[in-house]
Amino acid sequence: MLDNRTETDKRQAIIDCCLKMNASGLNQGTSGNISLRHGDGLLITPTSRPYDSLTPEDIVFLDMDGTAHGRWNPSSEWRFHRDILQARPDENAVLHAHPTFCTTLSIMGKPIPPLHYMVAVFGGPDIRCAPYAIYGSAALSRLALEALEGRKACLLAHHGMIAVGRDLDQAFWLADELETLARQYHGCLQLGAPPLLSAQQIQDVIDKIAGYGLSDD
Ligand code: 13P
Repeated sequence: MLDNRTETDKRQAIIDCCLKMNASGLNQGTSGNISLRHGDGLLITPTSRPYDSLTPEDIVFLDMDGTAHGRWNPSSEWRFHRDILQARPDENAVLHAHPTFCTTLSIMGKPIPPLHYMVAVFGGPDIRCAPYAIYGSAALSRLALEALEGRKACLLAHHGMIAVGRDLDQAFWLADELETLARQYHGCLQLGAPPLLSAQQIQDVIDKIAGYGLSDD
């Protein structure tokens, strides 16, 4: 998708998405980070700066070789943001956060199975949970990329989640849907092992739902 917004507009859109992420309860403090493809690199939130203090100049531009340009250091998770955008040319936005129910499942090492048909919007019959590696590491980036294979989101063990989208709106929408699925799964687990949809039932939804939630702008 061609994104003709100016760089300043994109920087502001990242800040707006951060503020929405915290206001919605998906994230708290500066635990999350957001990036958006721009030119030959990406724009990304600075590390550890409160979102409500951010101005467009605070967003960092990162070359694909990892060189940062800006007044602050980039998010400590810049590696997986960069690596995802490099490996997934159809995706333009990456959202990482620590939502309570996603993180609860990730601590328990539980991938999300096909318990609701909305699992299909993530591209397959489950949401994988990447094994633990320390935050900001190349190892975490490698494990996250593996867990994201053919999917638009994954959990990160003892950490949180990642959602990717063709734009910030889609990444946020998916992050919100993922936290809802995690809350539903957590609720089901109080009652026992939930019955699951079959691979064919999920595939039928993937076929039917193609394009759902994708705006054409
Ligand atoms: P940053 O403030 O460096 O983006 O890191 C937050 C975080 O939670 C890393 O996983």
